[in-house]
Amino acid sequence: MFVKKVGENLIRFYNKVNQGFEVKIMLKKLGMGTWHLGEGSERQQQQQLATLRYGLEHGVSLIDTAEMYNEGAVETLVGKAIQPYDRSRLTLISKFYPWHAAKKDLRQSLTATLKRLQTDYLDLYLLHWRQKNNLTEMVANLEELKKQGLIRQWGVSNFDVSDLKELLQVPAGNKCFVNEDLYNLGSRGVETDLLAFQKQHQIDFIAYSPFGSENSQYLKIKPQLRQLAGQKKITIHQLLLAWVLQQDVYCIPKASSIKHLQENLAAATVTFSDAELQQLDKLYPRPTNKAPLDMI
Ligand SMILES: NC(=O)c1ccc[n+]([C@@H]2O[C@H](COP(=O)([O-])OP(=O)(O)OC[C@H]3O[C@@H](n4cnc5c(N)ncnc54)[C@H](OP(=O)(O)O)[C@@H]3O)[C@@H](O)[C@H]2O)c1
Repeated sequence: MFVKKVGENLIRFYNKVNQGFEVKIMLKKLGMGTWHLGEGSERQQQQQLATLRYGLEHGVSLIDTAEMYNEGAVETLVGKAIQPYDRSRLTLISKFYPWHAAKKDLRQSLTATLKRLQTDYLDLYLLHWRQKNNLTEMVANLEELKKQGLIRQWGVSNFDVSDLKELLQVPAGNKCFVNEDLYNLGSRGVETDLLAFQKQHQIDFIAYSPFGSENSQYLKIKPQLRQLAGQKKITIHQLLLAWVLQQDVYCIPKASSIKHLQENLAAATVTFSDAELQQLDKLYPRPTNKAPLDMI
């Protein structure tokens, strides 16, 4: 594949099948999640806004949001946060409810999302999770939005290999740009086959909930993890995030304070020795058998 960088966030690649150049967005590996932002007192929301801006000013240009998050209030907060910045340098992802995938509903959802985000296009628009969606129709609708310049690319979320195989069967299904799934040290099912499948089909992987979500409710923090973090002079959260980033996938931790975000930025520079990685593999082994995809 011929790859040529044409700007900070874009690469042009030669598509052998279509015999032509296509533009892909080159996501940076660390983004900002936003679930549960847009909640709390006015002061807390000001702090969340300042945190998002701190990230934007310190090289994090990828923001993940959804129409579901606080029923649009999070998109409104993100819209406020991004206003002072050069839109062309940002990568904005939003997600639509599965029951909005039909043509008219999808257009309406996107229009409302763009209004709340105060922008005229999304970089990526994802199906939030799968219900009984007619994938052929949904892909046609997304491709239409792409043609109209309202979205740059589209993708899916909470898809496993079998879902992606189905998607790749439908016309233009191979234009799927990303799949966003749960992935952290305590939830490694995607390593059995999904990561390799996505690599093979050039579908980028975005890992959500690297800390096991709010209060690490979906990840059991073992005492040995605390010990290892202590030896490395980092926090447990930094260790968890650094481990996901080490897997060479995109990752979108959510932080609502500048302190947490600063720690997360610092985690992007943490590395592990082979011995440490082996120790982590022993503590949190990768599953050997295929199991249903974990999701929140
Ligand atoms: N596609 C999907 O279906 C899906 C599902 C779930 C999540 N997501 C996306 O992925 C993002 C991340 O997942 P998530 O929000 O579930 O959980 P997460 O990022 O795993 O965890 C967020 C929690 O970690 C805390 N935290 C962040 N940085 C920290 C630090 N340095 N030290 C200590 N605590 C820290 C946050 O606290 P504070 O808020 O106090 O900073 C918050 O309580 C979401 O926000 C959303 O954008 C997508």
